[in-house]
Formats: sequence, structure tokens, C-alpha cells
Amino acid sequence: MDQSLPNDLDAFWMPFTNNRWFKEHPRLLDYRSATGHRILDGTAGLWCVNAGHGRPRIVEAVQRQVAVLDYAPTFQLGHPLAFELASRLKQIAPGDLSHVFFTNSGSESVDTALKIALAYHRARGEGTRTRLIGRERGYHGTGFGGISVGGIVNNRKTFGALLPGVDHLPHTHAPEHNAFSRGQPAWGAHLADELERIVALHDASTIAAVIVEPVAGSTGVLVPPQGYLERLRAITQRHGILLIFDEVITGYGRLGTPFAADYFGVLPDIIATAKGLTNGVIPMGAVFAREGVYRAIVDGAGPGIELFHGYTYSGHPIAAAAGIATLDTYRDDGLFERAATLAPVWEEALHSLADAPHVIDIRTLGLIAGIELAPRAGAPTARAMEAFHTAFDRGLLIRVTGDIIALSPPLIITEAEIDQIVTTLRGVLAEVA
Ligand SMILES: Cc1ncc(COP(=O)(O)O)c(C=O)c1O
Repeated sequence: MDQSLPNDLDAFWMPFTNNRWFKEHPRLLDYRSATGHRILDGTAGLWCVNAGHGRPRIVEAVQRQVAVLDYAPTFQLGHPLAFELASRLKQIAPGDLSHVFFTNSGSESVDTALKIALAYHRARGEGTRTRLIGRERGYHGTGFGGISVGGIVNNRKTFGALLPGVDHLPHTHAPEHNAFSRGQPAWGAHLADELERIVALHDASTIAAVIVEPVAGSTGVLVPPQGYLERLRAITQRHGILLIFDEVITGYGRLGTPFAADYFGVLPDIIATAKGLTNGVIPMGAVFAREGVYRAIVDGAGPGIELFHGYTYSGHPIAAAAGIATLDTYRDDGLFERAATLAPVWEEALHSLADAPHVIDIRTLGLIAGIELAPRAGAPTARAMEAFHTAFDRGLLIRVTGDIIALSPPLIITEAEIDQIVTTLRGVLAEVA
């Protein structure tokens, strides 16, 4: 370890990290690398810094709030900012997704959404509906609910039996049909019909909810086939099953609309969000429930508390202040519209890498891109990981998952910076073996 570093690198048990390797080869960030050169953030941190780093309005809102009201509980009490933020979110929510439950992260939003779905059916006298349906290659955070409905084997295999009564739809990744598609691929809507098979197997009366990411991010940018989400909606509706969209990465402008539900024109019953809600500045999540879901639970309850769920920091005042300032920034800078305008530029630029070494697929939607690399013989994931390190050393932050590079820049990215990403990546791909 570098003795000049004041920190004991060993003390921090890093999440989703090869700790042994990292601590031998540390790369520390303040968006300038350890050697002092600037880093272009091609991933908005972890898909969260949608308005870009260091936005004065958000910084000032947090600074102001911490001095005014640093903490307030929201159990049986309230403070104005939590109500204000919920009201602001209602204004941008699709359809009648007008009730907002605050959490502190995407994982908590997912668990909250699943619990609301179970509570909804029970409140309506359908307490037999307890099954939850996720999807292969789904990522829904790291709570027990999220890993149970999630479809990533490494996130699941270590942790025992997980939630009972969970089933999974097949994933939609089919490069043999859809490689190099721009926007939604043409092939694969029929994969949603697998839900009919699952319903036939278990009976609709046992199924509470289906949860999917409208665009799967963490397993390598899997864009839903044309018509797929519409079919899921139709089947869930036909069988009285709630549809949950996990919009933890697609929420807050990533596709050029407030939510993916807007982009695809498909209205789910519950939306889980986090990340871009506060621009990543203060941890916070928000779960949106449709009027009917909220009413069933709240009006269907006996006297007293209607939903026995919540977090010490639900609606935390500093997070709420950050959220309001973030929404102001998105609105006043027209960032969702900007993402929509830039999406075709982004698509064109990224697809120009089709002939770069190792590239076997490129997928784009909104300001998201996935670049799939051929795995190195006998060493899957090694090539992409080397690309990640090489890109960082060349001043570009990318994300890799398996052998896929995932990109999701802040919505303030310029056309010149898009060029810079593509040029840097071309050089990186030429360099990695
Ligand atoms: C779709 C999705 N759901 C849930 C999560 C979990 O969010 P968090 O890490 O804030 O718990 C993530 C994080 O990347 C995500 O991409």
C-alpha cells in the first residue's frame, strides 16, 4: 500500500468490489484522478448524477437546510419540505401515480414497492396473492426482496433461500436477433407471453405483482423489445396483477422524459425510484403508487396506522431540500428535454464504434448505451475490466458489467463531450488485448 496515503485502505470494506485487487491498485476519485488529470463522467456516477456534479442550486439548498432543520421524524409528525417534494413529484408523475412514499435508496424503494403490492391485495380481501414475479437478469438492488425478484446469480447464490414464492420471466437479451439495434429492438415482444405460462402454472389468485426494469441497466443495458412492455401491462391487467416498474435508473430524465413509463406510454401501478431524485447528492428514494393502490390500502385499513412500513429517514429534510433543488434544476435547465434532443446525436456517435475492436453489439436508448465486447478466451469479464481501468487512466469514467460497457452520462453532456467519450473509447478498445 502507498504509505503516503493518510487512509488505511483496508478499513473500508468496499461494496461490489474486488477488495484485494483494489487495495493493491487504488484509484481514488474526486473527478480528478490521483494523478491530477480531469475525469469525464460517462456514467453520471452510478446512474444518479443526472444534472452533473457540483450544481450550485443543490449545494446551496443542502447547506441552507442543514442549518435550518437538520432532522425531523415523519412518523406521526411532518415537516413542510417532505410534503413539498411529494407534491412536486406528483406534478411530474405519469398518470395517477400521485402518492409518494420516501425511502433512502433504490433497494429500499424496491422492497417498499413489493410490500405495497402485498398490502394492496390483502386490503382488498385477496390475501392469497403473495407471489412476486421478477425477471432473469433483473437488478433490483440488494435487499432480500430485491435479490429474490432479481435475476443475477452472483447476487443470489450466497444468500440462502431468499423470499419464498418468487418466479422469474425470461430476460430479453437476444443479440442473435437484435444486435446493433438503435432504440427498441424489433424481436422479442412474445417473451412477455411467458407471463401467461407462469399464471397458468401458479394461478392468478396467488400472484401479487410483476416487477421489471423498463430498461435493464445493471446487466448491460437491455432495451425492451417493441411491444414487450405493452404486453406485460395487458397480461397483468387481465389477471389483476400489479405491474411495478423499477425506474431507479430510468427515472428523472434518462430517456428524455420524466420517467420511462412516459417514454414507452405504459402506465404501471407502482414506480420505484431513487438516484436522480436528488442528483445523487443526498441518498433518497421515492415510490409512486397509483390512486387506486393508495386508496385501497389507506381506506381499507382499520383505525390507526394503515401501512406498517417506513424508515427513520423517510422524507429526511436535507434530502427533501436536495430533491426540490434537483427538480428545480431539471426544470429550469430543461434537462429532460435536452436528453431527448441529444438522444439521436448520442445514438449516432455510439454506433460509430460498431467497427472498433472486440465490439459484438451496441445498444442505445435515450442517453444510455451498452457496448458488448467479445469475452477474452478463458477469461470472461477480464477484457471489459481492463477497458474500465484504461479508460479511467485516460480520463473517462465508464461502467462495466460482465463484458459489457454501460454508459449513462449526465444529461448536461455536450456534443463535444460525446465525441470525447467515443474517441477515448475507440483508443481504449484498440489498446486492450
Ligand atoms: C434498477 C435498479 N434498482 C435498484 C437499484 C438499487 O439502488 P441502490 O443501490 O440505491 O439501493 C439499482 C442500483 O443500481 C438499480 O439500477
